[in-house]
Amino acid sequence: MNDMKRNWLPILLGVIVAWVIVGEVIDSSRKQKEEDKRFAEYLATEEHDSAWLAPSLYSDNETSGKEREMVMYGQDLIAHTSKYFGPNGTVSHTTNGMNCQNCHLDAGTRRWGNNYGAVYSTYPQLRGRSNIVQDIYGRVNDCFERSLNGKAIANNSYEMQSIYTYMKWLGKDVQKGKKPYSSGLPKLTFLDRAADPEKGKMVYINVCQTCHGDKGQGMVSLDGKEYSYPPLWGKHSYNDGAGLYRLSSLASFVSNNMPYNQASHKHPKLTTEEAWDVGAFVNSQPRPQLDQSKDWPDLSKKSFDAPYGPYADSFSEKQHKYGPFQPIVNAKKTK
Ligand code: HEC
Ligand code: HEC
Repeated sequence: MNDMKRNWLPILLGVIVAWVIVGEVIDSSRKQKEEDKRFAEYLATEEHDSAWLAPSLYSDNETSGKEREMVMYGQDLIAHTSKYFGPNGTVSHTTNGMNCQNCHLDAGTRRWGNNYGAVYSTYPQLRGRSNIVQDIYGRVNDCFERSLNGKAIANNSYEMQSIYTYMKWLGKDVQKGKKPYSSGLPKLTFLDRAADPEKGKMVYINVCQTCHGDKGQGMVSLDGKEYSYPPLWGKHSYNDGAGLYRLSSLASFVSNNMPYNQASHKHPKLTTEEAWDVGAFVNSQPRPQLDQSKDWPDLSKKSFDAPYGPYADSFSEKQHKYGPFQPIVNAKKTK
């Protein structure tokens, strides 16, 4: 009798503990289910994002051997161009020391970071500036000569072939002829006034100067081989024939990407006005010059914001440089 009493108590305690644990488990699995349901509902309300996603070498085990080697070298040439072609480059000393990546973020893979998602799918293409059908080599060399204020590299060089192979690999999942969402630079809403370099100067001082310097000179990295912060004007910057010298490209790039790693397409840090104005300030500063007398042989194809005459219309050079642009675009449409 005494024995039974002695045994009964721990058994009862055991049952109670087990009961509580089972209850807890059931309760937490119910909570988990509710949580999952709420999460699924939340996901369903999120905007579907169809933006381009760059391939990754980590998950790609199809690209192998020589091709894989060239993809990797091509990527490094884009990310650290200056180490190969800059003032102390290992291949030649023929550029201003900028990297392609300074303007094509994350080696040309970042969404809305002026990426290369559309390159392999849309080249060769007829381009207005040269009025000829241009292939990928030609387009790459345009940026070497203008954005990097340097010299073209030979199409059959291992470097050019590697850049080509890298761009082909980046675009391998993009349908021919298609320009994926988030590739290149999106159009920024026009202002109904001219962009104002004076207002832009204040934006520059407040938002950009800490990184890009008080003279737009940028900052060279500790090893001296490339820029930690690239220059925005002056003799080491892009020349006046470069894509960024057109205000719509610069304002769009800045609106979607600057300040670096703080602004994004969905969450810009500048207002649209500030982006146009700071662009106007940057492009009103001195920079290297390029003979562009052979550009735009067909004037009717000239971009609305090409900052040099002659033009097919009667708007001033100043309006083509700073806007307002809508009247220029409208006049072109009605022709
Ligand atoms: C100073 C900024 C800058 C630098 C540096 C630069 N680019 Fe560009 N690049 C641009 C801009 C701006 C465009 C035009 C984007 C547009 O109009 O959509 C462009 C366009 C291109 C395109 C065509 C993209 C397309 O979808 O049509 C290719 C290819 C390209 N660049 C390659 C390079 C390579 C390779 C380098 C380095 C050798 C380089 N770029 C360096 C600014 C730059
Ligand atoms: C936190 C530092 C930082 C700030 C602030 C910043 N940038 Fe940048 N910017 C960078 C870096 C870094 C790059 C190059 C990115 C790379 O190489 O991956 C860059 C690249 C650029 C480029 C293209 C390359 C070139 O030199 O032409 C432009 C144009 C630019 N920034 C403009 C601006 C403007 C305008 C502002 C102010 C609205 C600004 N940035 C604010 C760090 C910054």
